[in-house]
Amino acid sequence: MSASLDQRNNTESQQQEKHNGSNGNGVVITTATNNSRSLYSNQRLRLNPNKTHESENYEDLQLEFNSSLYSKLEQYLPPNMLSVNRDAKVQYMREILSRYLPEGERTRVQRHREYRQKIMSSYQRRHKELYTMQADTFFLPTFIHAITENTEESLRSIITEPSPGIYTFKMLQPEFCKLMLEEVLNFEKWVHEAKFKIMRPNTMNRYGAVLDDFGLEAMLDKLMDEFIRPISRVFFAEVGGSTLDSHHGFIVEYGNNRDLELGFHVDDSEVTLNVCLGEQFSGGELFFRGVRCDKHVNTESQREEVLDYSHVPGQAVLHRGRHRHGAKATTSGHRVNLLLWCRSSAFRELRKYQKDFSSWCGECQREKKERQRQSVVATKQELLRREGESMA
Ligand SMILES: [Fe+2]
Ligand SMILES: [Zn+2]
Repeated sequence: MSASLDQRNNTESQQQEKHNGSNGNGVVITTATNNSRSLYSNQRLRLNPNKTHESENYEDLQLEFNSSLYSKLEQYLPPNMLSVNRDAKVQYMREILSRYLPEGERTRVQRHREYRQKIMSSYQRRHKELYTMQADTFFLPTFIHAITENTEESLRSIITEPSPGIYTFKMLQPEFCKLMLEEVLNFEKWVHEAKFKIMRPNTMNRYGAVLDDFGLEAMLDKLMDEFIRPISRVFFAEVGGSTLDSHHGFIVEYGNNRDLELGFHVDDSEVTLNVCLGEQFSGGELFFRGVRCDKHVNTESQREEVLDYSHVPGQAVLHRGRHRHGAKATTSGHRVNLLLWCRSSAFRELRKYQKDFSSWCGECQREKKERQRQSVVATKQELLRREGESMA
């Protein structure tokens, strides 16, 4: 089975990053005002966190980094700043964090922030109930039960693994799928009528929308934290499954007058959730061809790595971002899928220092086995030679 990720597809992740901010999460930065600088610039962070201090919740704010980072950083604030109001804390922390972003990044991030603000100020939500997590109405009882039990056994009871590393399970209630489809159509109608220039989810999709950009970020963050991380902790531990801390959430659309298919690629994620929302369609199978590191992304697939999966509305597929895949042509009807690219900053940091990816790359594993086999052969030959010598 030959696998070839062409240059265009290969750069999907980089392009997407340019598009949406480095964590795809609406990275935003404002340079602090002179006012805040004069107030706080001589204040230093503590060397050790104040672990007894209870941090504020920053989830509702449009921030440049994940909201949990601000909550963590708050424990390092100078003691006299712990009692100031939340806005002042945010401003101070932003000033510190902005030093970690290069200039070009800051401008891009600023532009993306304005883009989101434009949407937020004029887009009228159709189904407000979608914007906060309501597990009971979003998910099937079986799914909630398995996550609540939170054991490998309970998860395995609802999950099928049709090919190594690919997990499928029934997840969404039909009513949720219907409402989400309506919300997306409503958003696209608004984009069209307002002649708004929309940013697409990545360079490979000409249709679809970034859910985080029109207000669904907090809900999707909960989806990752409370539902996807517990599963990933069990099945994707070696790619940071237990430390997923940011996401890029979007919708893709296929069919007549939409995208037809999707080329072979890897995602800019540690773990990808892909769930079909509907509607009626034929074709559009997801094809998988094994997990690979950067170096091996274009190597052949082994027979056991080949899987074609047919989408079922409400049913989710969970796989490593580095699991090479694509979508076959949706030959009729209209297909909409919800994608959640989940990332782990801890894993990305560690990966920089790693050379051996055999815990997850199929080809690294194969090479390692081959080296072991050769070393066993060499040892045997050496032993035989010595035996021969001693006999002589
Ligand atoms: Fe993908
Ligand atoms: Zn490899």
